[in-house]
Amino acid sequence: MKDTIRQLIQQALTRMTEDGVLPAGLTPAIQVENTKDKSHGDFASNIALMLAKPAAMKPRDLAEKLVAALPADAAISKVEIAGPGFLNFFQNSDALARRLEAALADERLGVTKNGRTGRVVVDLSSPNLAKEMHVGHLRSTIIGDAVARVLEFLGDTVIRQNHVGDWGTQFGMLLAHMEENPAAAEGELSDLEHFYRASKKRFDESDEFADRARQLVVRLQTGEPECLRLWKHFNEVSLSHCQEVYDRLGVRLSPADVRGESSYNEDLPGIIEALRAKGLLTESDGAQCVFLEEFKNAEGNPLPVIVQKAGGGYLYATTDLAAMRYRSQQLKADRVLYFVDQRQALHFQMTFEVARRAGFVDAATELEHMGFGTMNGADGRPFKTRDGGTVKLIDLLNEAEQRAYALVKDKNPELAEDELRSIARAVGIGAVKYADLSKHRASDYSFNFDLMLSFEGNTAPYLLYAYTRVASVFRKLGLGFDQIEGSIAIEAEQEQALAAKLAQFGEVLGNVAEKGQPHLLCAYLYDLAGLFSSFYEHCPILAADSEARKQSRLRLAALTGRTLKQGLELLGLETLERM
Ligand code: ARG
Repeated sequence: MKDTIRQLIQQALTRMTEDGVLPAGLTPAIQVENTKDKSHGDFASNIALMLAKPAAMKPRDLAEKLVAALPADAAISKVEIAGPGFLNFFQNSDALARRLEAALADERLGVTKNGRTGRVVVDLSSPNLAKEMHVGHLRSTIIGDAVARVLEFLGDTVIRQNHVGDWGTQFGMLLAHMEENPAAAEGELSDLEHFYRASKKRFDESDEFADRARQLVVRLQTGEPECLRLWKHFNEVSLSHCQEVYDRLGVRLSPADVRGESSYNEDLPGIIEALRAKGLLTESDGAQCVFLEEFKNAEGNPLPVIVQKAGGGYLYATTDLAAMRYRSQQLKADRVLYFVDQRQALHFQMTFEVARRAGFVDAATELEHMGFGTMNGADGRPFKTRDGGTVKLIDLLNEAEQRAYALVKDKNPELAEDELRSIARAVGIGAVKYADLSKHRASDYSFNFDLMLSFEGNTAPYLLYAYTRVASVFRKLGLGFDQIEGSIAIEAEQEQALAAKLAQFGEVLGNVAEKGQPHLLCAYLYDLAGLFSSFYEHCPILAADSEARKQSRLRLAALTGRTLKQGLELLGLETLERM
């Protein structure tokens, strides 16, 4: 709709320019927004305000001329001028109803991608295998998965890349600990945090151990088979812990999506050579650096990206450069999205720039850091266990399910145990995911079980429940969403508001895909559920005063049900038919 309106305005502007009302050469970016208040129509544009100055006209006069020049369109019932000169467009209810009919008849709810589809690499989760996965990776995993699902739904080819940290000096210490006491180590591996701490303790207390750890790093780098075997074993165990979290979360990640830092090892010398050949390298205190003038430190000197240490070792940034080259050249990505902590923003700005200058990344490949804020505890302080340790994700998910179980049982004591369990799972896991997804990703957020499990407000329980309300209408009738005859007629104010919202689904998904912001979809579904509630309250469905009206309302309800379900699924939430 917005595109249609933009085109109509463009045509009016062209006509006005031809008629000499507007000076030639104006090419404004025409903005069309959804209105908040339906008494102002469905869409609004500030074009007359924008052009008033260059056209040397009063905004309202210009608005009147524009309205007169607007071509008629079946989708628009009227256009009004409001306030200082806004144009308010009212959509034609019949045309809107036809669009919803088309959505209802389509498996994909009438959603198509605006613009061409492409290949999108999504870098998500990417924990360090040396340690237990922590809450930061939970955010990356959940947000990245939701955006990946939306991109796929819109028709893009998504390539998930779990860029795990499976290389580096910490591994020396871990391998030394495995070697020292294989039997004990095997037991300890079930708790990586514990294993890491035990290794670190040995490293700090014994010089002999520390030496052995350093040698092991070198032996690992030279590919000594026994070392490699230990290292592989460690990574397998650690990855299986991650996979357990992914499966519990219902996140679409599998071992096939893992392409860890170690997989770029062999490319690293070539990266340095390529940088040198381009004349980008500068030696500084023995280290190889790329200095970027546009990034300056506190003293105003250019900041370096260090790509090779004085001792010859490579860095996180070097590996990322190799990964960028691989993603652009080998995977042929049109976009590469990095769901990584906001605190790495500078790292990405700088490495993106180096990758461009070095020609590692094609001009046509977009590199986008989708940074996210820190997850804090309910008290707003860094998320830790009572004794200051790292919270194990699996424990967090267990607690969410237990709390959801207690809540649901309290509400429905008569439910059978297995049904209770499956509702608790959907609600508990859904609550953890939704709480994260519903916040603007760049802001920090406080993890709060009470808030996320509330049945009121923008929460998973509220939305899952809203969906079951729609589903129950159809269950009572014994009909599926796709078995309702008749056609949609939009009459009451509540029908109008619900219908207009339903028609925005595709646009919202487009924004999520473009900005990597799933909270936009959460806000949309929350609004939709609220509009359905008032529709349900004011517009009797089964007791409607005519058969045609009943069918029309059922069809609106069916489209609401399908949109809620599809939306929740794209967020990675499991829906329930009853709860
Ligand atoms: N392993 C890193 C960390 O835990 C995140 C990696 C993100 N991806 C990347 N391509 N750098 O901080």
